[in-house]
Amino acid sequence: MVEAVECSQFLSQTPLYITSLSAIKDRLNAYQETISRYFSQYHIHYAMKANSALPLLQHLCQWGSSIEIVSVGELNRALTAGFHPTDIAFSGVGKTQKEIDKALEVEVGYIHAEHMEELWYLLDHTQDKSSCITIRLNPSAEVETHPYLKTGALDSKFGILFEHIQQGFQDKLKHLSPSEKHKYLIPLRGIHIHLGSQLQNPNVYEYVMEECRKLYDFLKSEGAVITHINLGGGLEVKETGVPHDHSDIKNYIEFLSKTFKKYFSEEITLHLEPGRSLVASSSILLTKVLYKKENDAQHKFIYVDAGMNDFPRPSLYHAKHAYVLIPSDLTQMSDKETTYSIVGPVCESGDVLHPKAQLKDSVCPGDSIIFLDVGAYCRSMASFYNLRPIPAEVFCYQGKLLSSLPAHYAAENE
Ligand code: LLP
Repeated sequence: MVEAVECSQFLSQTPLYITSLSAIKDRLNAYQETISRYFSQYHIHYAMKANSALPLLQHLCQWGSSIEIVSVGELNRALTAGFHPTDIAFSGVGKTQKEIDKALEVEVGYIHAEHMEELWYLLDHTQDKSSCITIRLNPSAEVETHPYLKTGALDSKFGILFEHIQQGFQDKLKHLSPSEKHKYLIPLRGIHIHLGSQLQNPNVYEYVMEECRKLYDFLKSEGAVITHINLGGGLEVKETGVPHDHSDIKNYIEFLSKTFKKYFSEEITLHLEPGRSLVASSSILLTKVLYKKENDAQHKFIYVDAGMNDFPRPSLYHAKHAYVLIPSDLTQMSDKETTYSIVGPVCESGDVLHPKAQLKDSVCPGDSIIFLDVGAYCRSMASFYNLRPIPAEVFCYQGKLLSSLPAHYAAENE
C-alpha cells in the first residue's frame, strides 16, 4: 500500500514508480514549520532535479514552495507547474548565454553566478530587471559524502573562490567611484553555497558560515547590499529512509539557525534548496522478478524488469536502497534466506540494483521486489539506454490515486 492505494493493481505495469504526495507535503510542512520558528523571513526552493515530475511540482507550488532549477528545460517545467518567476532560483555551473537570457527575459527571482564572467554579464543585464543575482562561493570545505556528491571543496568545479572574487572586483571595478560601484552592484543581493549532497556531518557549517561572513563583509565594503544567504541543500537520507517524526529536518534547521545567527542578523533572510530530504522517502519502485540463476554457491542472481537505466543510483554511486520481496504465492515461501545479486536487463555488468540482497530461497519469477526511498534522483536520472523506455510514475494524494498513468508519461516514452 502507498497511502491507502493497493499496489497490486500495478503488477502488470512494472517497472513503476509510485509516489506519495501526502508524504512530501508532510516533509515540506516540517521544513516550513521548523524554519518559521527561527526566522521571520525565509525561502525554501525545492531542488527540482531530485524529481521533476509535473504533478509533484504542481502540488509543491500550491503548498507554497519556491523552486531551484538548473536548465531552461527545468525553467519551462517550473513555469508550466505554475511557479511565479520570482519564486524561481536558477543555479547551474555551465549556463549558456541563451539560458541566462531566457531567465532574464522571464525575470526569475534569483540567478546564482558560478563564474566571474557570468557575474559581470548578469550585472550588466539586470540593471533594469527585477532578478536578484547571487554569487556562489566555493568555500573549499571538505565534507563527508560520496566523492561524486561533493560540491564545495577546492577540487570542485562549482562556485568561485573568495580570492578570485576579491581579485575580480579589484580588476573590474577599480575605475568606478564608490557611488558608481554601489549602483552597478544593486542587483547583487545574495551569497549562495551548496556543499554537496548526503552530507553526513553538519558541523562543517561552522566553518562555512565564517567564510560566508568574510565574503559578506567584503561585498559590503565594495558597496553591495546583501539581503539573503542561500545554503543550498544536502541533508542526508539514510538507507533506512527518513524518520517518521521528521527529527532529521528539525535538528538540521535548529543547528543551521544557531550557526547562522552567530554571523548574521535578523535582516538577512535564509534561503534553502532541499531536494532529496523532501522527496526521497515518498516513492517506491515496483519491479517484477523475471529469472533466477545460480552460477555457483557464491554467485546467485535475481533478474528484475528494472535496470540501471530506470534506477541509476546503485550503479552510479553504489547507493544502497532497502528492498522488500513480495512473493506471488505465499504458500510456497521458504524460511531460509540466501544472498542474491539483484540485477537488471541492461547489457552492462554494472547493472546491479543490489549486490548482496538477502532474499527468501523460494524467490522466483512472478514475485515482485519493491525498492524503497527512491523518490530522489532515481526516475529523474533515468535514461533511454538500450532504448528502454523511462518507467512511469503514478501519484497518490490524500489516500487516493491521482490518475493511473498520466498522459505525459506515455508521451515522454514514445
Ligand atoms: N542546490 C544545488 C545547487 C544543488 O546542486 C543540489 C543538488 C541541491 C540544492 C539539492 O541537494 P539535496 O538536498 O538533494 O542533497 N544525483 C545525486 C545527487 C546530486 C545532487 C545535485 N545537486 C544522487 O543521486 O545522490
